[in-house]
Amino acid sequence: MITGHTRFVPLLAHPCRHVRTPPLFNAECERQGEDIVMVPLDVLPERLHATVDSLRAIENLAGMVITIPHKGAIAALCDRLVGAAALVGACNIVRREKDGSLTGGMFDGEGFVAGLLHRGHDPAGKRVLLVGAGGAASGVAHALLGAGVAGLTIANRSPEKAETLAGQLRGLFENARVETGPPNPRGFDIVINGTALGMHAGDALPVDVDRLGAGTVVGEVVMQPDMTPLLAAAEARGCVVHKGIHMIEQQVRLLVDFLK
Ligand SMILES: NC(=O)c1ccc[n+]([C@@H]2O[C@H](COP(=O)([O-])OP(=O)(O)OC[C@H]3O[C@@H](n4cnc5c(N)ncnc54)[C@H](OP(=O)(O)O)[C@@H]3O)[C@@H](O)[C@H]2O)c1
Repeated sequence: MITGHTRFVPLLAHPCRHVRTPPLFNAECERQGEDIVMVPLDVLPERLHATVDSLRAIENLAGMVITIPHKGAIAALCDRLVGAAALVGACNIVRREKDGSLTGGMFDGEGFVAGLLHRGHDPAGKRVLLVGAGGAASGVAHALLGAGVAGLTIANRSPEKAETLAGQLRGLFENARVETGPPNPRGFDIVINGTALGMHAGDALPVDVDRLGAGTVVGEVVMQPDMTPLLAAAEARGCVVHKGIHMIEQQVRLLVDFLK
């Protein structure tokens, strides 16, 4: 029930028809007894700045949740970045403080790891191959190292981005084994697609699936389609598949907590 006490959280996206967060987020608010409601807003990139300036003036705005293509641009509009947002230079949530200032956070990675844990795939002590070095992959890499993986190999189409990310992570996690390499999944316990590959029909597979060993946990950040070509191929080879939706299912609790 929306009343005069309800705080509001727009989900900023463009386009917004594919978003899956609002029902999960609103159900989590209800579960936690938080009087907050999420509504998707379709915002063109060139209107993001004006939209955020207007939104920050609203007293009952709890914050904003951000998705493609705004995660990088919103970071520049925040007054401060905390946690993984500072590493990644991107945010997927912004909290409006009482003085109207904006604090940006990034929970994609923590959400991914929370999803793994929830489904019984503790990454601690595991060898992980992560494909991608963009916003989602960077957050996932940060959270995996925080969760104590034995080693992390980053493979990216643009290798210099993988090198830059690996260097930043080595600076943050001194004893961690972080390497860059090809998208060859042989020998890894957990293989994760952190790229956008799989969203569109005809996309290439992010890893060489013929080299996937049975029993490997194969995870996705892509949520649409629910079962990506990578997951279908992995399942056919006897791997344990972990869908992109699990990243957001477990993340909504972290997002609601951040807005309290
Ligand atoms: N499940 C969730 O909760 C969740 C949360 C956030 C994001 N996501 C999903 O994660 C995906 C990536 O989002 P993002 O924010 O990280 O985007 P991004 O910052 O633009 O990064 C895109 C990544 O995908 C790679 N890539 C794109 N097209 C490619 C291609 N044709 N071949 C090889 N690599 C390619 C890029 O490689 P280069 O560096 O070489 O360009 C880069 O590593 C999207 O599908 C998004 O929906 C899911």
